[in-house]
Amino acid sequence: MITRINGIKLAYTDQGQGPPVVFLHAFPQNRAMWDQQVMALSTTHRVIAPDFRGFGESDAPEGSYTLDQYADDVNGLLDHLAITGAVFVGLSMGGYTLFAFYRKHAARMKGLVLADTRAQADTEEGRAGRSAMAQTARAKGAGAIAEIMLPKLLSTVALQTKPDLVRQVRSAIERTTVSGIAGALMAMAGRPDSVPLLGRIACPVLVLTGELDGPTPPADGRFMAERIPGARLEIIPQAGHLSNLERPAEFNRALLDFLNGMS
Ligand code: MLT
Repeated sequence: MITRINGIKLAYTDQGQGPPVVFLHAFPQNRAMWDQQVMALSTTHRVIAPDFRGFGESDAPEGSYTLDQYADDVNGLLDHLAITGAVFVGLSMGGYTLFAFYRKHAARMKGLVLADTRAQADTEEGRAGRSAMAQTARAKGAGAIAEIMLPKLLSTVALQTKPDLVRQVRSAIERTTVSGIAGALMAMAGRPDSVPLLGRIACPVLVLTGELDGPTPPADGRFMAERIPGARLEIIPQAGHLSNLERPAEFNRALLDFLNGMS
C-alpha cells in the first residue's frame, strides 16, 4: 500500500485484524524483512510495517534524514490509518527510531519490543564510520554497502549455511537508493543518547537480542533491560543481528508470548 505522509510517498503493509502491531525495519533493509512476522501475527493482529523514507518502495529524497522525521512519518501513517495506539517492534535502526517515537508520541505506545538495538548514541568513531560509509555509497553504489553490511547483519553460520537468506538480505541492500542509504546513515549518526530515557519508559517492554549479534551484542540488550522498569530480556540462541530472519520461529514465539501476556 502507498500513501502520502509529510510530503513523501510512504509504502507500507497493513494486514490482518486485531490489536495493532507496528514493525520498524533495520538499516539498510525494508519492510520485507518482516514477512515471516507478518505471516505469523496477522491471523490474530493488525500488522503494520512501513518502509522508512529512503527504503523499499518509499520515496528517497536527497539530503540527510533524522530519526525524528522517521518517527513523524510513522506517526502520520498511524493518523492516516486511524490507529490510536499500538505495540511497536523495532530492530536496530527501527529500535533507534522507537526511542525518538517515544520521546514525541509516547501516548501511542502500548508496548515496545526493542530487538537487536542499543540505547547509546554513536561514538565519535562511529559517526566518522557513518560518514565514510555514506561516501562509499556515493562513490561505489549500494553493492559496496552490501559487502560491508552483510557480515555485520548475519552471523558467520548464516553466511555459510543459508544462501537464500544471504541472497535476500544482499538484494534488499542492492535495491536501496544511495540517497536513502546516505540519508539514514546521517540520521543514525545524529541520534541522541537514549540512556536517560530508559528509566522513564512506562509501557510493557520486551528486549530481544540474537546471541551472535555483533553490532548490538547481548550486553547491549541486557543494559537496556536492566534500566527499563519491568522489562523482559530474551536472548535468541544462534541468531545474528537480523535475529528475526535467522531464527524466525524463536523470534515469533518470544513476540507472541509477550503480546499474549499483555492482553
Ligand atoms: C541496523 O541494523 O539497523 C544497523 O546495523 C544499525 C547501525 O548501523 O547502527
